[in-house]
Amino acid sequence: MVEYPTLRPRRLRKNEHVRKLVAETTLSPNHLVLPIFVKEIGNSKEEIESMPGVYRYPVNEELIKYIEEVKENGVNSIILFGIPSYKDEIGTSAIKRDGVVQSALKMISETFGESIIKIADECMDEYTTHGHCGLVIGNQNGYRIDNDESLKVHADIALSLAESGADIVAPSSMMDGVVGKIREKLDAAGFNDTLIMAYSAKYASVFYGPFREAATSKPAFGDRRTYQMDPRNAKESLKEIALDVEEGADIIMVKPAHTYLDVIRLVKENFPHYPLAAYHVSGEYSMIRAAGQKGWIDEKVAMMEVTYAIARAGADIIITYFAQEIAKSLREGFTF
Ligand code: PBG
Repeated sequence: MVEYPTLRPRRLRKNEHVRKLVAETTLSPNHLVLPIFVKEIGNSKEEIESMPGVYRYPVNEELIKYIEEVKENGVNSIILFGIPSYKDEIGTSAIKRDGVVQSALKMISETFGESIIKIADECMDEYTTHGHCGLVIGNQNGYRIDNDESLKVHADIALSLAESGADIVAPSSMMDGVVGKIREKLDAAGFNDTLIMAYSAKYASVFYGPFREAATSKPAFGDRRTYQMDPRNAKESLKEIALDVEEGADIIMVKPAHTYLDVIRLVKENFPHYPLAAYHVSGEYSMIRAAGQKGWIDEKVAMMEVTYAIARAGADIIITYFAQEIAKSLREGFTF
């Protein structure tokens, strides 16, 4: 009879140094992407009410100063979202060569050159009065999204972003065929080196709520359930990913991240040879912030635990509003 266990997994948890030695997952700021909102109206940054610690920036020195700070903290990739001064039915402001994101891309390129990776979200919802990610036929009494006509607009937006200096364009509309159409358009214009990061498995999620306040992109009527995925489906993500890969996506994405760890794992296992991004979205961010502010949770540890969980599930790249704070924590030697 054995009085004491001889097999002791706890030996590997003896102290933080041993735990670090055997940790299965590592995080590096190299793999973090920080979303930044840029706005056309106003000259100073403003905090987004539903996303404490996140701001909308004007395209001026304030934005440049912020990116300098981000870089100093070790984060070298950003994804830009625009809030234009003008919206219409067809999203004209998204294509303009002097649009808000296009202007930001030019300013950032002039200041930082290649030393920061500039990703541009490619979508219509922030630029349309109806707030949908495609062209709408009909109105609040009955409507549909015209998939194929929308593709042309998306390809035009992508080209203007590439021309303005985007290293990566990131179509987030979930229109069928959008990746292929954009690849074709970019290649025809000589932008063979511009990468495409596809929001391939993007779910119709309530956790985008705070973002829609931030970007003023809440649909005026209806919802996104005819283009974004059903939260009940996991296997379907493999079909969406396969199509985007076939159409030329360089980087694939699962979004949201925290709520869809199983999907991240499933996609990584089935497409191990493609870089996989996961987007820790606004609502997932704000829940941690809110609980932290109330003193119900240790915000910093929660941030790190969730981010490690996303990496552990299989994400190579993590898009997160916490990017800068995570990089800081890592530098300060954060460990469990
Ligand atoms: C669409 C887009 C959305 C997000 C990123 N790109 C909103 C949506 O699909 O409604 C959400 C990001 C977040 O919640 O942090 N342009």
